[in-house]
Amino acid sequence: MRVAVYPGSFDPITLGHVDVLRRALGVFDRVVVGVLVNPKKVPMLDIDTRVAVIRSGVGEALADQAARVDVRPFAGLTVDACRELGARFIVRGLRAVSDFEAELQMAHMNHRLAPEIDTVFFMTALEYSYLSSSLVREIVRFGGDPAEMVPPSVAERLAAVAAAEGALARVR
Ligand code: PNS
Repeated sequence: MRVAVYPGSFDPITLGHVDVLRRALGVFDRVVVGVLVNPKKVPMLDIDTRVAVIRSGVGEALADQAARVDVRPFAGLTVDACRELGARFIVRGLRAVSDFEAELQMAHMNHRLAPEIDTVFFMTALEYSYLSSSLVREIVRFGGDPAEMVPPSVAERLAAVAAAEGALARVR
């Protein structure tokens, strides 16, 4: 059984992430989407919401494969999460050359920490190469429509969170 962990912040998951996950499912028997709990960052979507919308988004976008996907939060090192889950592979997506440097550094560091674990990169489809979670957050916060960028249930939840943020800002 080939198990891989696809770690990330996923704040929010985008169609680019879904595309990488779909490709990973073509290679691995089971893929665990590991959602980082990072106490240093204030995310737009809290950890429970990120996990919930990834589950619903995967159900919508990859319905026939969803049984082979597990979504769970993790804190600490990615390699420790891999070891706990019995995963020998880390999945990451590459959108453009600009991603490469940081990803290479992370892959080498993870390999140093855990030589038995390999990082496998998938090229994000060209149509999603411009997408990033941070741009999606910005678009939603300024009232833009992220329908072409995230699964439908994720778009709905983002709109609700952005509306709540807006209401809070008006009260302050
Ligand atoms: O979606 P992101 O923010 O690009 O994901 C980055 C992530 C979560 C893969 C990376 O920050 C990570 O692995 N964090 C866990 C802590 C860790 O293992 N750090 C050492 C990485 S070399």
